[in-house]
Amino acid sequence: MASDRGEFSSRFGFIMAAAGSAVGLGNIWGFPTQAASNGGAAFLLVYLLLAFILAYPVLMAELIIGRHAHANAVRALQTIASRPLSKRVGAGAGIVGLVVASFILSFYAIVAGWMMAHCLGSLAALAGFDALEAWLVGFSLERNALFMLVFMTATAGIISAGVHQGIERWSSRLMPLLLVTMLALVIYVLTLDGAMDGLRVYLLPDFSAALAPSLVIKAMGAAFFSLSLGVGTMLIYGSYLSDRESLPVVGGLVTGVDIGIAVLAGFLVLPAMYVALASGVEIFTPTGQLISEDTLIFTVLPELFATMGAAGALVSLLFFFLMAIAALTSSISMLEPPVAYAIEEHGLTRQRAVVLISLIIAAISGTILLNFDALFGLVIAATTRYSQPLLGLVFCLYVGWVWNRNGLLQELREGAPRVEHTMFWRIWPWHVRFVCPLIIAAIFVQNLL
Ligand code: PFF
Repeated sequence: MASDRGEFSSRFGFIMAAAGSAVGLGNIWGFPTQAASNGGAAFLLVYLLLAFILAYPVLMAELIIGRHAHANAVRALQTIASRPLSKRVGAGAGIVGLVVASFILSFYAIVAGWMMAHCLGSLAALAGFDALEAWLVGFSLERNALFMLVFMTATAGIISAGVHQGIERWSSRLMPLLLVTMLALVIYVLTLDGAMDGLRVYLLPDFSAALAPSLVIKAMGAAFFSLSLGVGTMLIYGSYLSDRESLPVVGGLVTGVDIGIAVLAGFLVLPAMYVALASGVEIFTPTGQLISEDTLIFTVLPELFATMGAAGALVSLLFFFLMAIAALTSSISMLEPPVAYAIEEHGLTRQRAVVLISLIIAAISGTILLNFDALFGLVIAATTRYSQPLLGLVFCLYVGWVWNRNGLLQELREGAPRVEHTMFWRIWPWHVRFVCPLIIAAIFVQNLL
């Protein structure tokens, strides 16, 4: 059955695709700017903690359900349930996940469009087209709408090519390039004046800030967003994974790469902020608040590139190009769950499903752009801060309580015959059953109070 649906051809291909999904705007635009405006090192600390004790176990829950069922989230949650009610609830949660994935893509395409526009803006600067450059890097409805559409078209193009030729081929080539460029930029930024101030904010925690409820819920949202959890993305990627792969190992590698790149991006963005500050750019409001998180990196990074003289436009071009690519390997993973659902449950052809769903998402993006101030932040908070962790909770409950335990352990052994002798085997089934649901619930309750 798996082979009719498409399958990743190698472990490397899967890891590149799943890490490609995980690594994206969340790592480089989301995490560092949230860290910067929420206590720096305190946020980093809580984020790291939640990534290991919560996000990795939830990622494993999604991967294992997907790989067991070799089907989309809606079907998969029904497959592991045995009672009519839990099947119905599972299907419902799967559908909510698809809707949330679509809403995430609707704002993601807007931000990714900004990356593309900045990339072309650097090209225009190199070619001496100053007016064009100003339009490309300025904030306007026309520019935002145009690049959102270009980005959605690219996403749809890759997804219509399917798992192997589309998702795997592109992710494997572009992810390594991104890593190398970022490393080079980090090394460069750390040589500039002001960078050490940023490093201090990033690495010296203020422990009193670390326990603030709003910080903890933001860090949880950031961790879920960064690992693409809750919306069936990792589940569907797991469903294309061969039964010969060890899930704890591939899940661990994907988590490691994702967190590593987020932390690395912090070493770029926070020092770059303080380099910009040292050269006179306003990054704080008079009351000491950071200027808009959404556009922060579009203010401080161009400032950083400007310090590089003639090479600056070239480095800027490369950076924003790779950001757009990182966004693309994530956006395809948001489009795949609703597309796979439409193909498998409603019999659409891949092409038709891609066109239909992309049009719906582009319409939502357009609506956000037309009501930017009211909707942009709202959609981000509703999807990433609330929906993703709550849906993650559902996955934990299904793995821990609904799925027959022998079935779960059998799937865990698949491709990992020695897993029974590891700590993972002893801890994880209990951890998703009790600890993860409790942590997620506690964070929500604490936030409500
Ligand atoms: N993990 C992606 C990022 O960090 O940019 C965002 C993302 C991808 C969220 C896929 C949700 C998703 F389903």
